[in-house]
Amino acid sequence: MSVLPIVKYGDEVLRIPTASVGEIDASIHKLIDDMVDTMYAAPGVGLAANQVGVSLRLMIIDLSVGRRPGELHVCINPEIVEVEGAITEDEGCLSVPDFVEVVTRPERARLRYLDRNGEPREMWGEGLMARAMCHEVDHLNGMLYVDHLRGLKKDRILRKIQKLARAGMW
Ligand code: NI
Repeated sequence: MSVLPIVKYGDEVLRIPTASVGEIDASIHKLIDDMVDTMYAAPGVGLAANQVGVSLRLMIIDLSVGRRPGELHVCINPEIVEVEGAITEDEGCLSVPDFVEVVTRPERARLRYLDRNGEPREMWGEGLMARAMCHEVDHLNGMLYVDHLRGLKKDRILRKIQKLARAGMW
């Protein structure tokens, strides 16, 4: 298993909607294992395959960042099928490092997906889990959390990123 480089805001692969995973073969299992290593090393609570440059509909979430067994969710071809409520809280992203902004997300969300063995599953997420599910599914659709920002907030973060990029620090 290996830790992969995480692509950052500005990389085109983050903007392309990912393709569905077909057969869940050894190469997919290797990708999942590498993504888990990468997410724990970052450290982060979620990671989408296109964040490691692979444009496939696959994401992982572990709110415990590997500290509690059974909390790792491997979600293949995930879809948000139902949402309830709204909650506004801080949000960050491994592809937009060192920035945090408030984003409004559903308070609860229901996710339909295949697990790493290809078994169909559904789960309700609440609070941070719902936020992570929506954030990662956004990634798979070519969206980033900064797309949810408006006006001055959005201008400010994009200006700072451009400045870092010009200085070769992005
Ligand atoms: Ni992210």
